[in-house]
Order: sequence, then C-alpha cells, then structure tokens
Amino acid sequence: MSEISIRDISRRFGAIQALDGISLDFPAGSFTALLGPSGCGKSTLLRLVAGFEAPDAGSIRFGSQLVADPVRQVRPEKRGVGMVFQSYALWPHMDVAGNVSYPLRTRGLEKGTIEQKVADVLAMVGLTGLGARKVDELSGGQRQRVALARCIVADAGIILFDEPLANLDIHLRATMVDVFGDIHRATGATIVYVTHDQGEALALADRIAVLDRGRLLQVGSPIEIYRAPVHVNVAGFVGRGAIVNGQAVDHRDDLAVVEISGLRIEARGAGIKSGPVRILLRPEALALAHAGLPAVVKSSTYRGPVHELRLSLGTGEEILLDDPQAHVVGEHVHVAISDAWVIPDA
Ligand SMILES: Nc1ncnc2c1ncn2[C@@H]1O[C@H](COP(=O)(O)OP(=O)(O)OP(=O)(O)O)[C@@H](O)[C@H]1O
Ligand SMILES: [Mg+2]
Repeated sequence: MSEISIRDISRRFGAIQALDGISLDFPAGSFTALLGPSGCGKSTLLRLVAGFEAPDAGSIRFGSQLVADPVRQVRPEKRGVGMVFQSYALWPHMDVAGNVSYPLRTRGLEKGTIEQKVADVLAMVGLTGLGARKVDELSGGQRQRVALARCIVADAGIILFDEPLANLDIHLRATMVDVFGDIHRATGATIVYVTHDQGEALALADRIAVLDRGRLLQVGSPIEIYRAPVHVNVAGFVGRGAIVNGQAVDHRDDLAVVEISGLRIEARGAGIKSGPVRILLRPEALALAHAGLPAVVKSSTYRGPVHELRLSLGTGEEILLDDPQAHVVGEHVHVAISDAWVIPDA
C-alpha cells in the first residue's frame, strides 16, 4: 500500500499551469527526491500534500484516506505531515529546547516526557547540550538542525522538506546530508525532499522524481535516472554528459547498434526503433584512445583530480570526457565509447 498516492493532480495559478496531471505514489517509508528546474511545480506539489493548497483536479490519498480532491480537503493540522522549509521559521526569542518542544507542549505531554524526547531528537541532529542556547546565537547550520529537530519530534509519518539546505554553504550542506539519512533511518517516515541539487538527490534518496513544467517526466531509482533517463530533459538535468544525434542501424531487445559520426557502437535502450536517435554519452563511459570517434579539443579544465575535456565532433556536436592529463585546445584526438544510452522520448 502506498503511503501517499497522488492521482491526476492539476493546479493552475491564473495563466500558469503549475501542475498538469501528475500521478505519483510515495511508498510507506520511502525517501523520494523531487528534482526539476525552478518553477516546475515542486513546492506546489509539496504544499498540496501538506494541505496549504487545494487541487483543481485529481486526488491525494494517505493510505486509503482521501485527504484532498477539488471539493474536500483535510485541514493541514489534521494530516500528520511535518514540513521543513528553506527559511527555518524558528522563534528567535525562545531557546533551542523551547523551539523543539513546541509541538509537544501544544499536545499537553508531561514535562519529563517532553525533556526526554527533546534530548533524543537533539542528539539525532547533533545538537546535544545546546538546548539552552538562544536561536539567534546559533550558526545557520545549527538553526537548520533545530528546525529539523522540531519537525522530527512531532513524530509525523510523512515529512516534507522544501530545499532545506538552500541557505547553507557547501561544506555544511555536505555534513547535513548525513543527518537526513539518519533521520530517515531513525523515524521510518515517508520523506519527500525537494532540491535543485542533483548531487544531494542522488546521494540521499531511494527514488527520484523529475518534474518539468508541471509534468512528471520520470520516477525511478537514482541509478535508473542517471543511467536510463527516458527524456532529454531528465538526461540534461541529472548528471554531466552530452546528448548527440545518431542512427540506430540494428536492434535486438534493449540493445542496439548505433552510428555516431560514422562510428558504430553498441548502446543500451528501451523499445529502440531503427532510424534517427538521440544518444546520451556520460563522461565516465568515454576515454581517449588510438581509434574511435575523431574529435578536437575545445577546452581542457582542471576539475581535480581529472581534467574535463570538452571535445567537438565532426558534426559540431560537443561531448565531455575526463582525462588524467591536460590537453591543448585544437588537439586532434580519438574517443572510445564503452557505454551509451538511446533516449526513448527524444
Ligand atoms: N500562489 C501563487 N500564485 C501565482 N503563481 C504561483 C503561486 N505559487 C506558484 N506559482 C507559480 O507556479 C509555478 C510553480 O511554482 P513552484 O513554486 O511550485 O515552483 P518550484 O518548482 O518550487 O520552483 P523553485 O525551484 O524556484 O522553488 C511557477 O510558475 C510559480 O510562479
Ligand atoms: Mg520551490
């Protein structure tokens, strides 16, 4: 049974179709990252699940319970959903423990129980001993941890995160990624995590859903999304690489022989048809070699530990490759291809 089941959800704001017929299930206990360009509808989808927006069409169920359709909406506070935003929305005049214990105090729990629960969640987010600190005496990363603790302490079965790390610098983001993993393991909650950052999504989530202009393009495991994107916009949005034109000259099951600039290679695909195709080439599947695809070095950029080479093919198309050595612009090289993916919906 799915914990959250979204069916044919649409939501329009004036002339903007923010969500356009989205159907998506979030299994109980799953950790799903919602990825997509700015304005694609990620926050709107979260707000619909939390109950801050109502759908124009479609339905949302938690288990078998209908929580929203165009005529009936369960109020946000009745949904048992925790939500953490980019802006932490903490009370600056309260100390850490006061902020974190707020959801418990509103339930009228005993003082001892509250203190124990607060200590437990502060330990979970790495803030042990900071309960008496004022919020305005904390760093950005520590404030974000307080917001997480306040969300976890409420014991919600569903937790929604809307770009929770967007305000933090790159080092803090990296350390916080582990905290989210810990929270998921400790709470067993169904988590939906919105981010712009594909690295964060690949590292954290067991599933990734990619949205574009209010539509769901693909949902799958991080490996599926990276290795077998069903749409050019998924391929372009997740991971580095290049999409080039080719011809499928032969195919059997989900393997094909494709021709790129005169070179024949084997490619993976799904439901491949003969004729023109769009082919995804990831940098790690390409290497400089004595024979292969002829190309010219357009740029060589040190990315530590490798040099990222931007190469131009005879067709004018560009590909990306990582090489241990720096190369000079204008150098003629050959590229061997060990893996390629025929994008089905290109
Ligand atoms: N209350 C609103 N009134 C009018 N337009 C809105 C409203 N909320 C969202 N929109 C529009 O709906 C579209 C989707 O917005 P949404 O906030 O869901 O995008 P997003 O994917 O979260 O983007 P970002 O990554 O920038 O946060 C955008 O074009 C946005 O301008
Ligand atoms: Mg948003």
